[in-house]
Amino acid sequence: MDRLVIQGGHKLNGHIPISGAKNSALKLMVACLLTDQPITLTNMPSLADTRFLAQLLETLGVEVYWPRGESTCHLNAAELKSTIAPYDQVRKMRASFNVLGPLIARSGHATVSLPGGCAIGARPVDLHLQALAAMGADLKVEQGYVKAAAIHGLKGAHINFSMPSVGATEHAMLTATLAEGTTVLENAAREPEIEDLAVCLNSMGADISGAGTSVIRIKGVESLKGTNHPVMPDRIEAGTYAIAAAAAGGDVTLDGCPVEALGALISKLREAGVTVDADEAAHTLRIRRNGTHLKAVNLSTQPHPGFPTDLQAQFMALMAIADGTSVIRETIFENRFMHAPELSRLGADITVRGQEAIVKGVKHLTAAPVMATDLRASVSLVIAGLAAEGETVVNRIYHLDRGFERLEEKLTACGAHIERRSGEEE
Ligand code: UD1
Repeated sequence: MDRLVIQGGHKLNGHIPISGAKNSALKLMVACLLTDQPITLTNMPSLADTRFLAQLLETLGVEVYWPRGESTCHLNAAELKSTIAPYDQVRKMRASFNVLGPLIARSGHATVSLPGGCAIGARPVDLHLQALAAMGADLKVEQGYVKAAAIHGLKGAHINFSMPSVGATEHAMLTATLAEGTTVLENAAREPEIEDLAVCLNSMGADISGAGTSVIRIKGVESLKGTNHPVMPDRIEAGTYAIAAAAAGGDVTLDGCPVEALGALISKLREAGVTVDADEAAHTLRIRRNGTHLKAVNLSTQPHPGFPTDLQAQFMALMAIADGTSVIRETIFENRFMHAPELSRLGADITVRGQEAIVKGVKHLTAAPVMATDLRASVSLVIAGLAAEGETVVNRIYHLDRGFERLEEKLTACGAHIERRSGEEE
């Protein structure tokens, strides 16, 4: 099992290129199921999660051509050979569940495992199922699988989500492209990845308007065609490196950065006393902190355009070394503070009370062995390790490999002392 060994206390200086967005790539890949023509995705991040989804698509009969080390992925679903997504493949990566609607739209039926719970909460799929049922899918849950059929085809529907869910919005949007008539999604999620998916689907011949707002209209079309689409840059990866630079200190420029999607983080970093130069036109974000103290700031995670839950753990690592007390409120997932006890092992002073973490800033973090628990939690430990004095070992970093492309390489290029080692946990 791999681990990362970090010698903390080195400032970060230089440029970090931002990769394609994992959360966008996963849904764009699923879109290939909606057409019998080839789809080419460029700027694809090569990650455990995207590779994993490629395997599931192959199980369904999609021809995937995506050599290791390449950022262009060719997907061709000319003929599907299965409409079954097995438990093992959906359990490991929740976004796999989004094949359900597209498979029904394409083949009239599908059997897809329920994803089950995950480390950060129960994460039900009721909103996904409500949307598909509203479009005329007949759904049965049997032995942990959703068995779905739409004998008379899918029909456009008016769907008012009880809360904005990124996954359910994307799932409904994908499915509605081939439904008969118009679908309206109200209280839709507004995350930038949803807009990216809509741009791709429209280039395939879909008729979607309003993506990025809370009301999305999808006029169903007869069929979709192939396309070539660049995956948007990863705002969570970019935000993570911005926070890392703020925590370790130094002067880092993020290249190819989706600046406009990071407004909430940028204002929190500035409030905390970090110098941030954002250039939307050049797609760069420059983060500087040389000697200035960090100020404690409060935050509450919110659906986009609010502060993203996927950056909460990283920001907590930053607040662990700020002057004063910061209250961090998690409103999206019910169990997303698992990084708090691990950060405490590094000397952070954090008390978790229900949905809130009270972080009393300390002067220094001190190195210790810690354990990664989920994707974003693990990278918060890396950030803390960069800022801590001494050698921090982050065990179980397979979580990191799910979502961060060439993390050690990108940080090392900016002067971090970070190394991957295999073998027994420390
Ligand atoms: C996506 C992102 C994830 C991010 C999250 C919130 C991907 C692959 N993952 O996850 O990184 O943290 O958005 O920005 O894009 N919910 C229900 N019923 C449902 C669906 C969701 O109750 O049917 C709840 C969830 O449990 C959660 C909240 O809604 O409490 C938001 O979840 P959602 O926006 O759906 O997140 P994901 O799409 O799973």
